[in-house]
Amino acid sequence: MTIRIPLKKEVETEIKSAKNLKELDQVFKKYLGKNGEIIIGLKSLRDLPKEKRAKAGKELNILKSFLEKELKARTGDLEDKIKKEIKKEEWIDITIPGRKPSIGHLHPLTQTKRKFEEIFQSMGFSVIEGPEIENEWYNFEALNIPAHHPARSTFCLSLCRTFYLKGGNLLRSHTSPVQIRYMEKHHPPLRIIVPGRIFRNEATDAKHEFNFYHIEGLMVDKSVSIANFKAILQEFLNKFFQKTIKMRLRPCYFPFTEPSFEVDIECVVCGGKGCSTCLGSGWIEMMGAGMVHPNVFKNVGLNPKDWQGFAFGMGMDRFAMMKYKINDIRFFNSGDLRFLQQF
Ligand code: PHE
Repeated sequence: MTIRIPLKKEVETEIKSAKNLKELDQVFKKYLGKNGEIIIGLKSLRDLPKEKRAKAGKELNILKSFLEKELKARTGDLEDKIKKEIKKEEWIDITIPGRKPSIGHLHPLTQTKRKFEEIFQSMGFSVIEGPEIENEWYNFEALNIPAHHPARSTFCLSLCRTFYLKGGNLLRSHTSPVQIRYMEKHHPPLRIIVPGRIFRNEATDAKHEFNFYHIEGLMVDKSVSIANFKAILQEFLNKFFQKTIKMRLRPCYFPFTEPSFEVDIECVVCGGKGCSTCLGSGWIEMMGAGMVHPNVFKNVGLNPKDWQGFAFGMGMDRFAMMKYKINDIRFFNSGDLRFLQQF
C-alpha cells in the first residue's frame, strides 16, 4: 500500500492559475474536499506500515498547511480584484457639471411677430386676430373687390390665387378682412395691427410659400394722413432693424385703398448699393399700403366724410428674412434644427 503525495510545485501552479473563485474552489475540492487527495491520504495513513507512516503523515500535513495558506492568499487576491472592478464601474465624479436639459426657443417667425407687436403696441396699436377661414364677403367684397373685379380672377394682386373651400368659404389670402371685422364691431378712433397666417396658391420657391404670415395695420381717426403713416412706419422700421432705414412710397393700386402705394426700403443686405437680394436696385418692396377707400368705410357703416385712415399689409416672413439675412423662405417651415438653432 502506498499513498500518492502531490508535488508542492504542482499544487502551487494550480492555485496560481485559478482565474476566479470558482476555479479556486475546484482546487480546494481536489485536495482538501471530502474526497480530496490530501484528506484521503491522511485517512489512509493508518493502513501504511509503521515505518512509512510518520514520514508520509509529516509530508501530507506540511502540504496541507501550505495549501491552506496559499488558498487563503489567492482567495484574498481574487476578492480584491473583484472589489476593484466593481469600484471602477460605479465610479461617480461628483465634480462633473450636470447635463443641462435642452430647452427649446421661439421660432424666428414668432420672435419677429413679437417684435412687431412690441413696437406697434408702444405706439398705441392693439393686437387683433381674425379667422383663417373666411368667406368672399370679408376677403373680397367688403374690401371693394366685387365678383367681377380683376383682382378676383385674372389680374393678379396675388388675391386671385385663393384656395376655395366647399360651401363658399376660402382660406384668407390676406389679413385685410380683419379690417372689416374689427370696424364692424368697434367705432373709431382705432389703431390695430393684425398678425396672422395667410394662404395663396403659389408655386413654392426661395421667395414664395403657399402659407406665410402677414401683418395688417389700420389706423382710423378724424384726420389721419399719409404723413402720419410715414411717421409711424419710419419709427417701426428704425426700431425693427435697430438702425435708420431709408424708405420710399411708390404709387400702386389696391381696390381697398385710395391712393395706394407700395413701400420700399433700402436693401438691408447691401445697404442700398445693389446686390442679388435687391436684384441690383438697392431697394426692396416690403408692403402694400394706402388710405382706406371710402367704399370700405361705407361697407362697415361709417361715413367716409367723417373718417380717414391708412392701412398697410406686410409680409412677416420677408421682414424676418431681411433681419436675419435668410435667403430662402422655405427654411421657416422645414423643421430643420440646423436652421432653427441659429436663432
Ligand atoms: N392686403 C394687401 C396684400 O395682401 C396688402 C395691403 C393691406 C394693401 C392694406 C393696402 C392696405 O397684398
